[in-house]
Amino acid sequence: MSMTFTGQVALVTGGAAGIGRATALAFAAEGLKVVVADLDREGGEGTVQLIRAAGGEALFVTCNVTRDADVQQLLARTVEVYGRLDYAFNNAGIEIEQGRLAEGSEAEFDAIMGVNVKGVWLCMKYQLPLMLAQGGGAIVNTASVAGLGAAPRMSIYSASKHAVIGLTKSAAIEYAKKKVRVNAVCPAVIDTDMFRRAYEADPRKGEFAAAMHPVGRIGKVEEIASAVLYLCSDGAAFTTGQALAVDGGATAI
Ligand SMILES: NC(=O)c1ccc[n+]([C@@H]2O[C@H](COP(=O)([O-])OP(=O)(O)OC[C@H]3O[C@@H](n4cnc5c(N)ncnc54)[C@H](O)[C@@H]3O)[C@@H](O)[C@H]2O)c1
Repeated sequence: MSMTFTGQVALVTGGAAGIGRATALAFAAEGLKVVVADLDREGGEGTVQLIRAAGGEALFVTCNVTRDADVQQLLARTVEVYGRLDYAFNNAGIEIEQGRLAEGSEAEFDAIMGVNVKGVWLCMKYQLPLMLAQGGGAIVNTASVAGLGAAPRMSIYSASKHAVIGLTKSAAIEYAKKKVRVNAVCPAVIDTDMFRRAYEADPRKGEFAAAMHPVGRIGKVEEIASAVLYLCSDGAAFTTGQALAVDGGATAI
């Protein structure tokens, strides 16, 4: 894959594992300097090591995206070390299987909404002024196919991902004339630790997961990374406010 990037610096939250790590590696492979942010220091440093081993440049910053002070510090460190921020992939997220709606707890609601919604909002809140001051940039937020339709037994998660799309579209319109584009990527089931945690206990769920995608399999992290890079690239200059399903056809049924 070859894409054109006018900017030089990309930030990935939730970059210690899964989709975030694959996207951090993909940005670095395109020659961008990458800031990897995560709660998980070991995993985040691991991503940085992989980037450096491949000849790229990266920095890890510990950050809990639910904390205003952490996010401010993340952006301050990005500017301190690399001088600017061109692309941001707000991807940190959690999933907790909640049972049916009435079985969910207040603690689950607060935890899921905290990371998936407040985290994305806080990141955009502090990324947008930097991009505006520079004269442009691109943001991609991780939603989910659960943000486009129902997700039984994951109603809070589904609500959180619908909210990510609401934040994405509203910000896209607010900043469209300022050369900052904001889009969301909506993965279906992707082979990550999150997927394995949810399905390992019951192999039938693995078969069910494959069958829900018309292509007959679950997705790979690299298949989300390439969509994120496309949305950040100059090739997507006319694309903003979109929620792009990358889902093996799942939402086309
Ligand atoms: N795997 C899937 O099937 C799938 C499908 C649709 C959407 N998604 C979304 O993709 C994103 C990435 O998920 P993944 O599958 O790679 O999961 P993952 O669990 O492998 O990675 C998520 C990363 O986010 C980090 N994180 C969690 N809470 C954080 C916080 N408060 N602050 C900073 N970092 C935090 C974790 O430490 C982890 O490194 C999530 O937003 C998830 O909801 C995943």
